[in-house]
Amino acid sequence: TAHYAVFGHPVAHSLSPRIHAAFAKQMGIAMEYVAIDASPADFASAVSAFATVGGRGANVTLPHKERAAALCSQLSERARRAGAVNTLKRVGLQWHGDNTDGEGLVRDLTGRHGLDLRARRVLLLGAGGAARGVAPALLDAGIQELWIVNRTPEKADALADALGQPDRVHTRYLADLPNLGNYDMIVNATSAGRGEADFKLPFRLAEARALAVDLSYGEAAIPFLAWAQAAGCEPRIDGLGMLVEQAAESFAIWHGQRPETDEVYAELRAHAD
Ligand code: ATR
Repeated sequence: TAHYAVFGHPVAHSLSPRIHAAFAKQMGIAMEYVAIDASPADFASAVSAFATVGGRGANVTLPHKERAAALCSQLSERARRAGAVNTLKRVGLQWHGDNTDGEGLVRDLTGRHGLDLRARRVLLLGAGGAARGVAPALLDAGIQELWIVNRTPEKADALADALGQPDRVHTRYLADLPNLGNYDMIVNATSAGRGEADFKLPFRLAEARALAVDLSYGEAAIPFLAWAQAAGCEPRIDGLGMLVEQAAESFAIWHGQRPETDEVYAELRAHAD
C-alpha cells in the first residue's frame, strides 16, 4: 500500500482523505491517504518524516503552500509561476512540486458549470497561497483583465509582478474599492470568511449577473457568497467543485490516471448543503 497524505494546519476537517479514498476505490489502486497536522514551524520536518516512512506523495493546504514550494528540488511551470505548491511527488530522494488548484478551479467553472471565462474582467480578492495558485490558470483560461486587491498591498504587487503580464494584471488598494469600476467575475481568495470578519464590499463592484466564486466551501464561504447574493451575482459558486477537481489532478500526477469526479462531488455536495 502506497502512502499519501494532506498536510495542513488545521487539517482535521479536510475532505481530501475521503475524496482520495473514493478515487482509489474507483481506480482499483491500493493507497493509504491520511491528514497530517503540522504547524508552520514543524512543516519541513513533518514532510521529511513522512518521506522516511515511505510517503510517495502529498497534498499541501493552508497555510503551507508557499513553504512547500521551498522544499522542492523541482517545480512545475505552473507551481513556479504561482510560487505555491499543493501537490508533492516523491521522485528518488527528492520532492517535485506542482500546483493543481488553478486547473481545478478552471475545470470546475468551465466543465461542471459550463461557464465561459474568456473576456471576463476579474476582481481577485486576496494575494496569499490560494490566490497565487489560481491566478496563472485564470489568465491562461483567457480572462481579459485581472485586478488584484489585498489587505497587504505589497503582496498584491508581488503577485502581479510574478504573473508578468502588466498589460492584463493590475493591483489596487483595498481602500480604493469604492471607486473601482465593475466586474463580471469576482473571486474571493481571502481567508476572511474563516474568521468572523464579514464582507463590507460595495455592491456596485459587481455587474448585473456577475459570476461570484469563493475558493473555500462550507461555512467559510458563507459570508462572501451572502454578500454576492445581495449584490446580485449569479451564479455563485463555492470551492467544493474546485477541491474535487484539484484532487483529481493530483491523483493523476501520482498514479498516471485521472479519476471521474462527478460521483464524489455529488456525494460531498449532498452532505454539504
Ligand atoms: P491562503 O492559503 O488561504 O491564501 P494565506 O496565504 O494566509 O492563506 O492568505 C490569506 C489571504 O486572506 C491573504 O490575502 C490575507 O490578506 P493579507 O495578505 O493582508 O494577510 C487575506 N485575509 C485574511 N484575513 C483577512 C481579513 N480579515 N480581511 C481581509 N483580508 C484577509
